Amino acid sequence: MSWDFRQPGTRICVCYDVSNDDALKLWRESEQPSVEQLKEKHGCGNNCAMCIPYFRTLLRDYQRGKWPKDEAAKAGTEWFGAKKK
Ligand code: FES
Repeated sequence: MSWDFRQPGTRICVCYDVSNDDALKLWRESEQPSVEQLKEKHGCGNNCAMCIPYFRTLLRDYQRGKWPKDEAAKAGTEWFGAKKK
């Protein structure tokens, strides 16, 4: 099985043990979600910074409603509150 950074619970930052679930929790609590918040709260990006491009991609997809997948699928079946058929 290959590593999928979009899979819920996947550890993205190995240096500080931060998962995409940690990021999602933080972003859901924030009015203006950012990768900077992750750096401040969890320290990710402060060592090798290999995780930053992945967090940036997740944040972009999250803001576009394309991640996490369950929510994206739900959004795709609703249209202004009415269920699509
Ligand atoms: S993997 Fe996140 S700082 Fe190294």
